[in-house]
Amino acid sequence: MSFGNLQRDPFPQPRCDVQIRWMIRRDMPEVLEIEQQSFEFAWTEEDFLCCLRQRNCIGMVAERQERIAGFMIYELLKSQLHVLNFAVAPWARRQSVGTQMIEKLVNKLSQQRRQEICLEVRETNLAAQLFFRTQGLQAQSVLRNHYEDTEEDAYVMRYQLYPSDEVILPFVPRNRIADIDSEPDAEAA
Ligand SMILES: CC(C)(COP(=O)(O)OP(=O)(O)OC[C@H]1O[C@@H](n2cnc3c(N)ncnc32)[C@H](O)[C@@H]1OP(=O)(O)O)[C@@H](O)C(=O)NCCC(=O)NCCS
Repeated sequence: MSFGNLQRDPFPQPRCDVQIRWMIRRDMPEVLEIEQQSFEFAWTEEDFLCCLRQRNCIGMVAERQERIAGFMIYELLKSQLHVLNFAVAPWARRQSVGTQMIEKLVNKLSQQRRQEICLEVRETNLAAQLFFRTQGLQAQSVLRNHYEDTEEDAYVMRYQLYPSDEVILPFVPRNRIADIDSEPDAEAA
């Protein structure tokens, strides 16, 4: 698997040993604890179960020394993997657990099927933005007032297996009347 668009640290930390596997019901107490330690507006157990009951939703955990070190929930869409929830336990952070979970997702992409990973990150969550950027995800658009709990915007970040050169420019409103007035040949035309 190529990680061509990753911004790798030339002197990376040694990777810790984790096993990434499907989430099972027994993992839920540890997953909920990580969730609460990680987010101000945490998902409840019902939120997790409701999500995981959907046929296209997958839950995975990263296990380290028989403890749950992190988890991710994502949905299988037609052409992308959409990450709905992603967190690493505070005690396991900055040890490459998150990196290994993203690598697991990247390894699920294929030319024939899903070619990209997509997620939304809160505008105030700089740590996550920086983390996802090191994993090769790029911020590509903004969803205004995306969340019900705050007035925050969400940044849509995307990893593409085959990055295109297309640049999505921010929408800049234009005053077309002023444009016409300021053109020297506007009246002659
Ligand atoms: C964001 C998060 C998932 C990162 O997980 P992690 O296992 O600590 O990440 P890694 O150890 O694999 O980090 C890889 C690189 O990402 C960058 N990075 C990770 N956390 C960072 C932080 N807090 N600040 C700046 N850069 C960070 C670093 O470059 C890091 O490499 P380094 O440790 O060699 O400097 C974790 O901090 C977390 O669970 N945060 C709370 C939940 C959250 O915000 N989830 C995302 C919701 S969209």
